[in-house]
Amino acid sequence: MSPDSRAFRDAMGQFATGVTIVSTVGPDGDGLGVTVNSFNSVSLDPPLVLFSLSRDASCFDAYVAAGKFAVNVLSQEHVAISAKFATPGDSRWNGIAHETGETGCPLLPDAIAVFECTTEAIHDGGDHVIFIGRVVRADYADGGAPLLYFRSRYCQVDGRTGG
Ligand SMILES: Cc1cc2nc3c(=O)[nH]c(=O)nc-3n(C[C@H](O)[C@H](O)[C@H](O)COP(=O)(O)O)c2cc1C
Repeated sequence: MSPDSRAFRDAMGQFATGVTIVSTVGPDGDGLGVTVNSFNSVSLDPPLVLFSLSRDASCFDAYVAAGKFAVNVLSQEHVAISAKFATPGDSRWNGIAHETGETGCPLLPDAIAVFECTTEAIHDGGDHVIFIGRVVRADYADGGAPLLYFRSRYCQVDGRTGG
């Protein structure tokens, strides 16, 4: 038995996530990036993270070949950037201020956290594949408010913690 696709999507939509841009470097040295909310931590020792990428993504082969990626965690100021990196089109980094990380992947300077990774493993995940990354550098900004995705919409939190 499996749920119908609408029920599955709607139920998943109840799980609020952060939003990231996962970047890498293409075969010609060009920066690539995809909006991703399937990011999660896997292991502390060694430090491992994961995200899943659709097999239909136009840059899929480049992510497999690159052997590295960087996860840029978005702030609530990044709605337009999230939309841009979720829309088909080349040269998504054009017009977006960015730096080059130690892995060579493009980084958003005002991301609230960054994880630079080498690809540790790639696992089958149905119509997606699961990338496991070994974190070689992690950095974060104090005080940034995250961009959230909930019920297929962007939303915000004020960053305050409760009891
Ligand atoms: C909030 C949000 C989260 C997303 N998360 C993922 C994800 O985890 N994995 C994925 O493959 N696509 C995800 N997408 C869709 C991709 O960003 C989008 O399909 C991709 O950028 C299209 O690339 P292409 O046009 O080059 O194929 C997400 C989109 C949005 C708006």
